[in-house]
Amino acid sequence: MTRAEKLNGARLLCPVCGKRLLADEQALRCVQSHTFDIARQGYVNLLPGKGAFYPLELFRNRREVFDHGFYAPLLERMEELIVKHAKSEKIVLLDAGCGEGYYAGNLLKNRESVKVAFDISREAVQLGAQRYEDVTFIVADLKRIPLPSHSVDCVLDVLTPADYSEFTRVLKKNGCVIKAIPGESYLKELRALAQEQLRSGPYESGRVKDYFAEHMRPVQHDRVTYTLPVTPDEARAFARMTPMLQRVDVKALDLSGVREITIDMELLVGKKK
Ligand SMILES: C[S@@+](CC[C@H](N)C(=O)[O-])C[C@H]1O[C@@H](n2cnc3c(N)ncnc32)[C@H](O)[C@@H]1O
Ligand SMILES: [Zn+2]
Repeated sequence: MTRAEKLNGARLLCPVCGKRLLADEQALRCVQSHTFDIARQGYVNLLPGKGAFYPLELFRNRREVFDHGFYAPLLERMEELIVKHAKSEKIVLLDAGCGEGYYAGNLLKNRESVKVAFDISREAVQLGAQRYEDVTFIVADLKRIPLPSHSVDCVLDVLTPADYSEFTRVLKKNGCVIKAIPGESYLKELRALAQEQLRSGPYESGRVKDYFAEHMRPVQHDRVTYTLPVTPDEARAFARMTPMLQRVDVKALDLSGVREITIDMELLVGKKK
């Protein structure tokens, strides 16, 4: 498949006028000639000028942790949920706030699918596009998703803010949202160490779940929890990959006693009401 064919398969919309964008090998253009260049790495920036929340460093550390396989069991459960609830022959997956692309890049590898991933951070999208060739990467804002209504089978929202009216708009009638939020033991070994520096309390998932149920019809709620051994270098990468510790001086933490790390993630699956 050529680059243009892949981008056309993602059915992107112009962020200026909302009309369909068509790709050649260099750029995407709408009928009104609004034009968006395809970057060298193959992604498209549909949000020129917008800034990002997190530094490139955070995404590099996420990638390091993902590459060690720490999130593979979670990925496996996500795949099962997507296949069970999206129910389409050729699943259209949208990874909202995809970061460096681990989930979109590694899900549905052995199935026919269209995978689109976007993030507000250009650096993150760049990393994704460099590595995962079967995914269409875009810089975009989840408050204004540049995709047609009723075009997506599954919206994946991993540790990322949600806009349920946009998610509902782009979802097909039987499509689903899978939202991953940290369970109370998520990275508990690191959070315990950082407690003195952190002024905020533990992550409050109650409100997030209520908000989810207000906007979606919950159909399944899973929890994936496991603890894995880590080396000191891996513990350091973990400490630098999570926004939970963004305000913490990681250099000041004594990570020498951290021998294991717990992944605890809740997976909320919802359909349109
Ligand atoms: C904690 S990171 C998770 C990234 C990825 N899902 C993962 O698990 O590795 C949250 C992501 O949401 C993105 N993000 C935050 N607000 C956004 C918005 N309004 N539109 C698109 N992406 C957004 C951030 O840039 C960041 O990449
Ligand atoms: Zn346009």
